[in-house]
Amino acid sequence: MRCLVVADLHYSLPQFDWLTQVARRFDIVILAGDLLDLSSLVDWRAQIVVMRRYLALLKTRTRLIVCSGNHDLDATDPAGEKIARWVTDLSYLGVPSDGQSFADGDTLFTICPWWDGPLARNRVASQLAADAARRPLHWYWVHHAPPDKSPTSWDGHRYQGDEPLAGWIAEYQPDIVFSGHVHQSPFSRGGSWVDRIGKTWVFNAGHQFGAPPAHIVIDTAEQQAIWISAAGVQHVPLDRPLELPVAKLTELPDWLTAPDEEGDRIPA
Ligand SMILES: [Fe+2]
Repeated sequence: MRCLVVADLHYSLPQFDWLTQVARRFDIVILAGDLLDLSSLVDWRAQIVVMRRYLALLKTRTRLIVCSGNHDLDATDPAGEKIARWVTDLSYLGVPSDGQSFADGDTLFTICPWWDGPLARNRVASQLAADAARRPLHWYWVHHAPPDKSPTSWDGHRYQGDEPLAGWIAEYQPDIVFSGHVHQSPFSRGGSWVDRIGKTWVFNAGHQFGAPPAHIVIDTAEQQAIWISAAGVQHVPLDRPLELPVAKLTELPDWLTAPDEEGDRIPA
């Protein structure tokens, strides 16, 4: 399975255009939260309309998974906690999202919503406990915030991660956690796009301006994770312990650079 993982696109339309160009090369595209930009001059309701159009287009090209981030919260639930209702409501597009789980063969994706209060946090805990009970061979989580006290949540000054998530990872040891949220982590001294906590791989592609977005490609058959950004290309073999510093790649592998069946290459 080849997965393309991005987060924190923050209504960058050139980055979404790039995604639509490359999506069909991947078995799954994962958007790990913060599709919207609450500081944009564009009204957030208009942003949601545009995002729905992009997601519908992407869905014609590959399978999609979307979780919410703190910039995606558009509603308040009856308990007064903020939620991303528009992300929860993506089932009309056939896109698995917040609070849902998605099985692909022997792999289970658990898609966690951004939690803004204790009730939503407890729902995430229940969701993970329920999926733990039916855990298949491979278990991947999509959760916007990275775990606390991890290089993937280090912003150059302090950790900005999620403490409960760190506890859930320690308890369940999923195979992979896909996150985002802390934009600077991969680009900061002491930060990273990848971490290994016990047997769990944690990824945060980070945020950069313009297309392409910083992104991670996972190839489960090749057992490789590759991070591609303006700061260069790095990779880790997933079948070995994490070695720091992470190895740089001077050349992308053929399977990533070869033209697709329509003769297109990934735009740089
Ligand atoms: Fe963000």
